Amino acid sequence: MSKALEGVKILDMTHVQSGPTCTQLLAWFGADVIKIERPGVGDATRGQLRDIPDVDSLYFTMLNANKRSVTLNTKSDKGKEIFTKLIEHCDVMVENFAPGALDRMGFSWERIQEINPRMIYASVKGFGPGPYEDCKVYENVAQCTGGSASTTGFDEGPPTVTGSQIGDTGTGLNLALGIVTALFHRESSGKGQRVECAMQDGVLNLCRVKLRDQQRLAHGPLKEYPQYPHGTFTDEVPRAGHASGGGQPGHVVKCAHRGGPGTAHGAHGANDYAYVIIQPQCWEPLMKAIGREDLIDDPEWATPEARLPKLDDCFALVEGWTITKDKYEVMEALNAVNVPCGPILSMKELAEEQSLRDTGTVVEVDHPERGTYLTVGNPIKLSDSPSDVDRSPLLGEHTDEILREIGYGDNEIDIARTDGAI
Ligand SMILES: CC(C)(COP(=O)(O)OP(=O)(O)OC[C@H]1O[C@@H](n2cnc3c(N)ncnc32)[C@H](O)[C@@H]1OP(=O)(O)O)[C@@H](O)C(=O)NCCC(=O)NCCS
Repeated sequence: MSKALEGVKILDMTHVQSGPTCTQLLAWFGADVIKIERPGVGDATRGQLRDIPDVDSLYFTMLNANKRSVTLNTKSDKGKEIFTKLIEHCDVMVENFAPGALDRMGFSWERIQEINPRMIYASVKGFGPGPYEDCKVYENVAQCTGGSASTTGFDEGPPTVTGSQIGDTGTGLNLALGIVTALFHRESSGKGQRVECAMQDGVLNLCRVKLRDQQRLAHGPLKEYPQYPHGTFTDEVPRAGHASGGGQPGHVVKCAHRGGPGTAHGAHGANDYAYVIIQPQCWEPLMKAIGREDLIDDPEWATPEARLPKLDDCFALVEGWTITKDKYEVMEALNAVNVPCGPILSMKELAEEQSLRDTGTVVEVDHPERGTYLTVGNPIKLSDSPSDVDRSPLLGEHTDEILREIGYGDNEIDIARTDGAI
């Protein structure tokens, strides 16, 4: 079976997280991803948050699987010559430098098109055109400026960022889709094109339900929000706590600690919770499950409209039952009667979950310097194209190999190295 993107060559100028997420995904699908890094320095994440001294960090290894690494100083004359050859050689170029960095290197979009008219040139920036277009941006800045932070957290607390890397990884995923779409279009047009993704746009796109709610506010309070019974709405979408973004109310409820009391957090572990959703058709089975058959037809509780002003009380009822079971028992009992719910799983539990290993969503790979480590595998499964995970490359591991592939002889490679270009 061939890999879906076999034969596609990607010139990967990405660093940190957003860009590398995109090129790692393309590499998992079989594209040949050639990562360009500064000689002696490399992607800054190689050295950030290190757990083992002098060894590429997990931050780096988990974002750069299946790639080849070339060290190249794209600001030196010789480096520019090699870079030009790489642009001729590749189908796609991806970068997420600060705004204008590639132009400053002398490789504007116009110049890239001159070198290779079939080139697809894909970029991540913090913002699209507008007042902030020149700003550098990291994950949490994108979460804040894209609307996510203002709607996350609790009413009494400050805006809150989330652990999901929706600004970086989210935008990297958008970029990957832009690239494969442009590759598809190139089949008919014969031409490359530019693909641009702004992190603010990506986060806002993921927050569309909140933009929906901003407009609903003009027509009255948001009845599924925890603020509703207290009537504390302004003209801005408030933080929603655990309220569901959809039409079905849901909440986090406490569960018993598996195996009994005595954890670092006291008798109740930090993640001894489950999320339970109440679809209208699930009221009856849920009430049966928790032993409150008396409420099934009670007009005070029986309809979604009756429950909306007292969702807190409603989920307190459910919690009165979940607190007698651990989160896995809650999952089993409620799914058996078709009530949507899920245990709050910690990173420890996910790392140990065998079914995620079986599907390749979490994989163990071997690295010559760090030994075995755990990383994420491709979350997108194709039935006819395998997607294996190989370790990340060492800095400059493939420099000679790739220079030879684009026509350089050993002597020229030695000269480039002496020049400091590679
Ligand atoms: C992430 C970010 C804030 C990091 O900023 P930074 O560490 O200052 O890095 P920069 O992107 O500005 O690049 C630093 C310099 O290295 C240079 N450089 C990078 N690779 C090089 C190479 N192989 N050879 C020579 N120079 C190189 C760049 O050209 C740039 O030089 P310049 O400032 O003279 O133009 C910034 O890149 C950014 O805003 N990117 C866009 C948004 C984004 O992706 N953010 C998410 C990060 S997860």
